[in-house]
Amino acid sequence: MSRFYITTPIYYVNALPHLGTFYSTVVADALARYHRARDGKDSTFFLTGLDEHGQKIERMAREKGLDPKTYCDQIAGGFRAVWQRAGISYDRFIRTTDGDHRLAVEEMWRRLVARGDIYAADYDGLYCVGCEEWKSEDDVIVEAGEKICPIHRKPVERVKEKNYFFRLSAYADRLLDWYNQTPSPVQPESRRNEVAEFVRRGLRDISVSRMSVKWGIPVPGDPEHVVYVWIDALTNYVTALGGPAEVEAGRGLGAFWPAVHHLIAKDILRFHAVYWPAMLWSAGLPAPKEVFCHGYLTVKGQKISKSIPATRVDPNAIADELGIDPLRYFVLREYTLGGDGDFTYEALFQRYESDLGNDLGNLLNRTVSMAHRYVGGNVAAAAGAAELAAAARANKSKAEQAWADFSPSRALEATWQIVRDFNGYIEATKPWALAKDPARSAELETMLSNCCEALRWAALMVGPAMPHAAQEILRQLGRSADAGSWPDGWAWPGGHLEQPTPVFPRIDPDKQAALIARWMPAEASAAPTATTTPAEIAIDDFAKFDLRAAKVIACERVKKADKLLMLTLDVGTEQRTVVSGIAAAYEPEQLVGKTVIYLANLKPAKIRGVVSQGMILAAGDAEVLGLSTLDRDVAPGTKIR
Ligand code: ME8
Ligand code: MG
Repeated sequence: MSRFYITTPIYYVNALPHLGTFYSTVVADALARYHRARDGKDSTFFLTGLDEHGQKIERMAREKGLDPKTYCDQIAGGFRAVWQRAGISYDRFIRTTDGDHRLAVEEMWRRLVARGDIYAADYDGLYCVGCEEWKSEDDVIVEAGEKICPIHRKPVERVKEKNYFFRLSAYADRLLDWYNQTPSPVQPESRRNEVAEFVRRGLRDISVSRMSVKWGIPVPGDPEHVVYVWIDALTNYVTALGGPAEVEAGRGLGAFWPAVHHLIAKDILRFHAVYWPAMLWSAGLPAPKEVFCHGYLTVKGQKISKSIPATRVDPNAIADELGIDPLRYFVLREYTLGGDGDFTYEALFQRYESDLGNDLGNLLNRTVSMAHRYVGGNVAAAAGAAELAAAARANKSKAEQAWADFSPSRALEATWQIVRDFNGYIEATKPWALAKDPARSAELETMLSNCCEALRWAALMVGPAMPHAAQEILRQLGRSADAGSWPDGWAWPGGHLEQPTPVFPRIDPDKQAALIARWMPAEASAAPTATTTPAEIAIDDFAKFDLRAAKVIACERVKKADKLLMLTLDVGTEQRTVVSGIAAAYEPEQLVGKTVIYLANLKPAKIRGVVSQGMILAAGDAEVLGLSTLDRDVAPGTKIR
């Protein structure tokens, strides 16, 4: 039996779901539903859940005056309710406070110890509670004399304590070999290159326990320490299959290992593609089949995040008006899994109207209405439209390939091709004319039969994306029993249709505008990153900035600094070197040839041993940013005013 095990990250319980977490979870759900439909229910296991331990949650609970478990229970209830409404068909909702998880973490720990990969040492370093991660001096930026985490924009903490360490450094070669398998287990390619580069730069052992934190799983044999929250969290993927022993033996659910696909975003790539395989090997278990890393959803270019209210997009509020399926469809269809994507309500309404209303909704409405008008709602089986049926089969194969490639967008595009073909078929066949001529009733019946079959196929093929709408379409076709399956032969079996009811009712433009105004968080209209608005300046003040067009002629990473790129610029009169903190958002090769905006008279500064002469301008922060470029080629050195 082919097995498919799909996981989402287990989310921190520091807030309820937002559109970013909704995105990962809906993608995983659609993939799980596709595999169940095609390969049978038992072939698939879908896991999501919550990451409840660690300092971040301990503090959050304390701020609310609750003990951590009570706090976690509350948020867990909220997550389940949102996922229930969103149609998330998980096979297990795991919480790291579950009893079996604790046993699995203890067992993992003992296996790492038995391998000789755990040792104790004193630690003195920087920690970001937001990331739940140790930071090196290279990872932080210094602002007003303080060391700041560039992701959370908060000061990091200095921690000195005795820790247990995991011998990560011992696994560098094995990791590099693993990345080189074909197909690579780390997808997409650019992410594989990123982690391979990280490992090639040298791996340090990692601290895997905390003494000053109480909210966690005690270290077996040394209960003064708790297991580091990431070791705890990653193990959840094994807990859900029955723990390390079941996975090792391939017993019961353990048989789903290693056919596991971890769906994550790039913020937690290193944990999944470096630490996790190494831990698994140390515990005597195989590495996962795939780590698939998608991009960030943004609002006005800013990463959607629990800690930034202006980026809040509430799936429930949208579902109140449109139902949840249009939002599921939108995020699956609109974005290429892997890349970043900006969310706007306007684009959501656009797809709602065109793809759902005008294409799919229209095909359903016309077909069911005509069936009632012309044949009393009884559409008999009738062969015909061989070419269109062949095209539908070809589109179905495309969709299957796309789902297999983790490309929901392409899968839905292929599905829509069938819908569009049949809307065209109705136009071309002119049923209203056929209906007037009794001699042509067989043609009319053939047309209706084929449209019903096309709709039945479309409903089954959109099922992974829009399970509720699929059910409703099948109900109107009198085919409810087919829900959750995958189309096979092209043969409408004949049957009675229900009365037509719009599945995606039209929303007039005024109502759309009113909804957008209601959904938009008040803060979102302000400039996203500006915390205070600087005072007005005169044009003479602006003249102090020597801004120039500059062409990037070479670009490379700065050694031992993951955030930094070194650019060589042609500034007209000469070449200049600039160090810029944009490595998380751009690959060096993407930048060569671009003409950017360059501040030429900034006092030079030495950064990581390189003298940076001036700076290039960009919008946003470390992870999600837009580089300033000029929209046509102007000569390097041209003054910007
Ligand atoms: O990192 N766009 O939890 P977390 C796309 N507990 N996806 C987004 C997103 C955005 N703007 N914002 C969040 C943790 N996500 C750990 C994980 S796993 C063993 C432990 C999604 O609550 C995306 O999947 O910070 C990202 O990786 C995840 O939420 C981070 O969730
Ligand atoms: Mg996070």
